[in-house]
Amino acid sequence: MSAVAILVAAGRGERMGADRPKAFLDLGGQPLLLRAARAFDDAPSVQLVVAVVPEGEVEAARGLLSSLTTSVTVVSGGRRRQDSVLEGLKQVPDGFEGPVLVHDAARPLVDVRLIEDVTRAAEEDGAALPVLPVVDTIKRLREGRVVETLDREELGAAQTPQGFRFDLLVSAYEAAFRDRVTVTDEATAVERLGARVQVVPGSPLNRKITTPEDLAWAESLLPGAVRA
Ligand code: CTP
Ligand code: MG
Repeated sequence: MSAVAILVAAGRGERMGADRPKAFLDLGGQPLLLRAARAFDDAPSVQLVVAVVPEGEVEAARGLLSSLTTSVTVVSGGRRRQDSVLEGLKQVPDGFEGPVLVHDAARPLVDVRLIEDVTRAAEEDGAALPVLPVVDTIKRLREGRVVETLDREELGAAQTPQGFRFDLLVSAYEAAFRDRVTVTDEATAVERLGARVQVVPGSPLNRKITTPEDLAWAESLLPGAVRA
């Protein structure tokens, strides 16, 4: 089993409000991108890591990832997340037939178990998505009023890595770009083709780091963290 992992790290991190792109911020002595990349480096199924980073950070990212034992390719990303994923997809070797995993570098606490589960499910079913149960009651809102309460049992919060057969992901992306649709994850593009997406259990630690509070939360989970 061998997979290519695309780590998208080209966002600006506006909600974080730091002076550097989010993927390069420190979490317990390691930038988020390096932490995420190390998990894929440790995953037996991953043969190539493609890191997609902001323009101007390519050299810095190459240096950062030079200690990985898995092959690494670093390229610059695009304006939207899906533009960055597309740049990553262009780096997948011609004729590659294994699964492609797409992961947010902003989820640095991803673990090998999840990576391997997604890879296996993507190989078996073509498309795999890690999902967490939704704990809050979710309302549909319009103009400041509640329109509807959704059945929580039917909802799931999507995480990454999301895994796909390479040809399926390429077809889904071609269709999304052709139809000028903006998608916030790969599964959305694949769902539009009517393809089945297999759900695997996500991980509570694999939360996306979006705000300074999220970073503080992740810090508090690291070994040796001082608890108040
Ligand atoms: N991403 C990317 N290219 C973009 C936008 C986002 O590679 N043009 C990546 C981010 O680097 C991140 C992941 O997609 O790892 C999820 O995006 P998000 O959490 O929204 O990160 P940012 O876009 O950087 O943050 P913000 O939306 O607050 O600016
Ligand atoms: Mg964003």
